[in-house]
Amino acid sequence: MKITCIGAGYVGGPTMAMIANRCPDIEVTVVDLNEERIAAWNDPDLSKLPVFEPGLDQIVSEARGRNLAFSTDVNKAISEANIIFISVNTPTKTYGTGAGQAADLKWVEKCARQIAEVVDHDVIVVEKSTVPIRTAAMIKSIMSAVGKGDKVKVLSNPEFLAEGTAVEDLSEPDRVLIGGEDEAAIQCLVDVYAHWVPRERILTTNLWSSELSKLTANAFLAQRVSSINSISALCEETGADVDEVARAIGSDSRIGPKFLKASVGFGGSCFQKDILNLTYLCDYFGLPEVANYWKGVIELNDWQKARFAQKIIKTLFNTVADKKIGILGFAFKKDTNDTRESAAIYVCRDLLIEQANLAIYDPQVSLEQIIADLEYVGITDARQLAEDGHITKVTSAAEAADGAHALAVLTEWDEFKELDYAAIHETMLKPACLFDGRNIIDRDQVTAAGFQLYSIGKGEAKEAQWEVR
Ligand code: NAD
Ligand code: UGA
Repeated sequence: MKITCIGAGYVGGPTMAMIANRCPDIEVTVVDLNEERIAAWNDPDLSKLPVFEPGLDQIVSEARGRNLAFSTDVNKAISEANIIFISVNTPTKTYGTGAGQAADLKWVEKCARQIAEVVDHDVIVVEKSTVPIRTAAMIKSIMSAVGKGDKVKVLSNPEFLAEGTAVEDLSEPDRVLIGGEDEAAIQCLVDVYAHWVPRERILTTNLWSSELSKLTANAFLAQRVSSINSISALCEETGADVDEVARAIGSDSRIGPKFLKASVGFGGSCFQKDILNLTYLCDYFGLPEVANYWKGVIELNDWQKARFAQKIIKTLFNTVADKKIGILGFAFKKDTNDTRESAAIYVCRDLLIEQANLAIYDPQVSLEQIIADLEYVGITDARQLAEDGHITKVTSAAEAADGAHALAVLTEWDEFKELDYAAIHETMLKPACLFDGRNIIDRDQVTAAGFQLYSIGKGEAKEAQWEVR
């Protein structure tokens, strides 16, 4: 059995490494057009893998060279495979019809066309990328158009791993979802996962349910974050504590405790793009009420990010111009080097517009990445700002704090919980403010150190009672 995966990104790389690791009898080849990425996957120095995930180096090192290979020879890998996963990017479209909302499927379609051109044998094509419902129909019609409709069976097998916990999620998934029409093809893919996933956790459905379940799962998860973030604002007005509220409601087994951590806002490559994709489909199918319901999840998230930046500006006497602000964390969550749609990008943008000087510390993110992200959200002179010292990438939290008016925690890296805040406070301008966008800082410790602390959803009770107006 030979498996090929097109796309050696955050999903293709770890997912295939896990399959190769758990299925020594299957030869797995991951291909990509990006030569640099493939070279990094092949680098003998495992710290250079293009994706940072705890435990991934171990999984790769056990299988690479045995039954796991990374290559740029896409045609060869396609021609030899029994199963071909398509795991390429499907970002939000930035041009033409549906710009800013629909998924851009050009990379998926290119893969389908390349497969159609190259294969001359029976093969199973698996959609691993997150795609709009009925994308499998597009792939099937491309195969049929060149007379290969009978040779190529199409399955949907969306990926549910989360970054930072990819290895854990892949080794013990809550479920594996396989959608398809052809029983033999479904069984073939079930057998791959059954090497390590208990059979009862491998769910099989029709193609369309599988495609739609992926968008729905991300929409529901993002909705929980926006729901608790909406309540965080009310907590700040009334003296309730959002973590206590989350604990209280999460103890109800019908609600459950996960995904109730209030924050500066959700980020990541998928929540926003997948909800936008869902709303586009709803609008397309004449369901504006459904589309608007889900748009609210994104609007609330945008508001939460802006609200946090405004809180910083307001607290620093309504001006941050020429003030140094230390930014702790730039990745969209801890334990990843991924910054896509990170809340930090938007908070930094808003502060830079107000002419703040930012000293950014993140253990995994480079200055180049930060500049590219800021340029993308409209800070077109980000490179110049970096050259002039208005944006700096520093190598420790202490350096970010030195001489700063304020610190803002934007990613929940564990190391930020354990900093010596008393020593850090000493080096800052007074009053020294700390804005905890992740609610990870020990309140008593930092307020004892002298910090003026703002945490999400933990306002002081206002004295006045509210009244009916
Ligand atoms: P990515 O951008 O990290 O990787 C995609 C890779 O595909 C890139 O390296 C690109 O060079 C390559 N590629 C594109 N077209 C190609 C082609 N024609 N031939 C060969 N290589 C090609 O993207 P990702 O984060 O891995 O996401 C991939 C898909 O998985 C998306 O649809 C995403 O929504 C979904 N997904 C992502 C995550 C996540 O945590 N990142 C989780 C679940 C699902
Ligand atoms: C998410 C889903 O959890 C995965 O199941 C899915 O496969 C993936 O999207 C995808 O399709 O790409 P991911 O974005 O990697 O995974 O990370 P999450 O753990 O879901 O976090 C997303 C964002 O929400 C992060 O910015 C995180 O900090 C934030 N978040 C999460 C909160 O603010 N509060 C929470 O309680 C949970």
